[in-house]
Amino acid sequence: MKITVIGAGNVGASCASLLAQKNIVKEIVLLDIKDKFSEGKSLDIAQMLPLLRSDTKITGTTNDYSKSKDSEIIIITCGIARKPGMNRDDLVKVNADIIRNVTKESISFSPKAKLIIVSNPLDVMAYVSYITADIDSSRVIGMAGLLDSTRYRFFLSEKLKLSPNDIQSMLLGGHGDTMVPLYRYTSISGIPIKEFISEEDNDDIIDKTKKGGEEIVSLLGTSAWMAPSASVVQMIEAILKDSKRIFSCSAFLNGEYDFKNIYMGVPVILGKSGIEKIIELKLNDKERFLLVQSYNHIKKMVEKLNF
Ligand code: LAC
Repeated sequence: MKITVIGAGNVGASCASLLAQKNIVKEIVLLDIKDKFSEGKSLDIAQMLPLLRSDTKITGTTNDYSKSKDSEIIIITCGIARKPGMNRDDLVKVNADIIRNVTKESISFSPKAKLIIVSNPLDVMAYVSYITADIDSSRVIGMAGLLDSTRYRFFLSEKLKLSPNDIQSMLLGGHGDTMVPLYRYTSISGIPIKEFISEEDNDDIIDKTKKGGEEIVSLLGTSAWMAPSASVVQMIEAILKDSKRIFSCSAFLNGEYDFKNIYMGVPVILGKSGIEKIIELKLNDKERFLLVQSYNHIKKMVEKLNF
């Protein structure tokens, strides 16, 4: 079982490290364009693994895609990251070119791979990768909903002084200000959220969640990597173990939720073939309205790329 991580920056290196620590794959390849960078990162990770009793093999390569040959999953994390004052959308053109190249190279050496896209703006990059790879959309999956719903669980747990472990939540739409966390589909140990917090107070938590990524950019001067990489690793685990977990992921919509030819966050079942099913929830007028706004926002960015 081989996994390749493209991009050895904060997100890519953390993904490789977390995955290696779990000792659930035979081999990880970390690839970066920067000379000797991924070699150094992977050597450091490799030297940590004996302490953690993991025998996953990890190697780095400077842009040699032949080393990624026959990977089961390829994680695409490369591209430029946000700086303070930038939003995810400012990255669209530069990152689209990068994602196109990387997808082409990756899929040519691993035609059966599933691709998990992490680069921003997430939903647009997942779309770019899908069109470029020209493979079934079940195999091109964007990571974001899981991260956003985890942030929501965290903020809610802080507010309610309850364990985040017991909070279940679902989220739709794009990764960004237009994300649509679903109050009606949130529960705490099976108890509907409305028993704990009003919809109005919950809206403040949603607002914090929307700004969750931006808050980290303003504190660190670059975007987050710990929570994003842990989200990716959960997705990898669900695919490798064929565990049929339900996560919010950015998926290609072909009529689902009445949208076509777009990637956006929806609940999906993840298993060995990637996205095995998109779950369509019944939405009320408010949720539908917000989702349409999210769709319009993503569509506008895709149109900028002249696809
Ligand atoms: C964030 C970046 C990864 O939300 O988009 O932190």
